[in-house]
Amino acid sequence: MRLKKSVKRWLIVILFAIIIIIGIFIFKEKNNYETKEEVKEMPEANTEPVYKDYGHEFNLTYGNYLEKYYDRYLKYKEKHPEYSDDLIITYVNIGLDNPFYTNMEDTNMDDGILVLCNKYHTLKSNYVPDLVSLNGYGGGQMAKVAAPHYKEMINAAKTDGIKLFNVSGYRSYSTQKTLYNNYVKRDGTEKADTYSARAGTSEHQTGLASDINTASSKAHFENTKEYKWLIENSYKYGFILRYPESKTFITGYKYEPWHYRYVGVDVATIIHEKDITYEEYYATYILK
Ligand code: DAL
Ligand code: ZN
Repeated sequence: MRLKKSVKRWLIVILFAIIIIIGIFIFKEKNNYETKEEVKEMPEANTEPVYKDYGHEFNLTYGNYLEKYYDRYLKYKEKHPEYSDDLIITYVNIGLDNPFYTNMEDTNMDDGILVLCNKYHTLKSNYVPDLVSLNGYGGGQMAKVAAPHYKEMINAAKTDGIKLFNVSGYRSYSTQKTLYNNYVKRDGTEKADTYSARAGTSEHQTGLASDINTASSKAHFENTKEYKWLIENSYKYGFILRYPESKTFITGYKYEPWHYRYVGVDVATIIHEKDITYEEYYATYILK
């Protein structure tokens, strides 16, 4: 049977149309399938963080385990599998899982002589302790609660033939601000941060700290008999070396053999015996 030419043309067009429609349908189905697969995988990746897969059980007898930091412990453990659980707990409690000057909190003033002032804990700009003069002990001022112990220490050193004196005790928020800003102008922020505290984070504002005899690395105070005396005796009067050598990653500061901080005899003795920083002490024994 011979079809008319025009009918034949229409049949070819319809056939093509059917082929194209089937092609589009197959293509869409395939794509749909792929999209469905993606949708299926994405939420899983988002709701199940990888570190959960470690399923690490922290030994609760270690350090000062705090339930509220569990996720931070896990994350930090994942980043530092070489650290013991004890270190993970202590370092996260200190705040070391976040860079310095991030996650800042107000210093807990209820801690009294044990206030923690560092690159995670700030003092209010208007905080001024009860102060007394250090006349006869190098001048300047110190918190009333610490000064008698400081004077007692300096008198004891004197009887041992060791001359100690304060070169910088209490510093106000604004004094610290000027000091730090000048260092930044001279050395840039990154370098200034290694040796000078940003306003509100200096222990000098608590009145509980003193730079003894010097405040310069160039003086090499660590090689003097005065330093040796302080290392052997300062804890007996309640003072600790606040920024020890090789602990920069914890304190955030370069070695300061001249900077001593009053924490009371009991705490200073523990810190001396365990050879730890104040950050480690606080994270282990005080933080709740
Ligand atoms: N040099 C110490 C860290 C301060 O500025 O308080
Ligand atoms: Zn100092």
